[in-house]
Amino acid sequence: MSHEIRLAVLLSGTGSIFEAVLASGIRVTLVASDRPCRGLDVARVAGIDTELVDRRHYGGFSASFDRVRYTARLLESLSARDIELVAMAGFGTVLSSQVHEAYPMRILNTHPSLLPAFPGWHSVAEALESGVDVTGCTVHFATLETDAGPVIAQEEVKILPGDTVDTLHERIKQAERVLYPATIRRVIDHIAAATPVHTPEGARR
Ligand code: GRF
Repeated sequence: MSHEIRLAVLLSGTGSIFEAVLASGIRVTLVASDRPCRGLDVARVAGIDTELVDRRHYGGFSASFDRVRYTARLLESLSARDIELVAMAGFGTVLSSQVHEAYPMRILNTHPSLLPAFPGWHSVAEALESGVDVTGCTVHFATLETDAGPVIAQEEVKILPGDTVDTLHERIKQAERVLYPATIRRVIDHIAAATPVHTPEGARR
């Protein structure tokens, strides 16, 4: 018998990838956000514990944003719930090193390009402008260097004539809504299989 991994999802937007994670049956312990957004509302309606750690209280999107203090506060939310695995699903804040020290190879991200191609915030537009025929999505472990951690899974998405950033991003998201839940499930199973479970008698699995 394996224990249920305590998963937190970090998001900032629509939350459609998060909805797909939920629909897949993966149990989510906490949804945290850096701004008020639809994704938080979806979590509340689903009866999931939510926490808004609002960037605006830490300098917002200005040069004075206190990334270290923000990350420390978010980390408190994760620790308070004994979170074991973190899945970023459209989270708009780059976190500082403490979170990676606390959760080494335990933070997942989904990115709308075939990394290492087109890292960063504008990956869909850049793929479209570059003239490539195929882009896609990548699930990877997040590390301090943005969009550069070890790749776990990728899915190709063809760029079609007449595609706009919106139509292409939506088709990429359709792929992410399948790939991300499946990959999170694989990682959860891997962690659970590697974690000793204590029975009431103290015997190990
Ligand atoms: C996804 O494309 C994800 O890869 C990117 O942000 C998007 C989130 O979409 N980082 P949604 O808010 O879940 O619809």
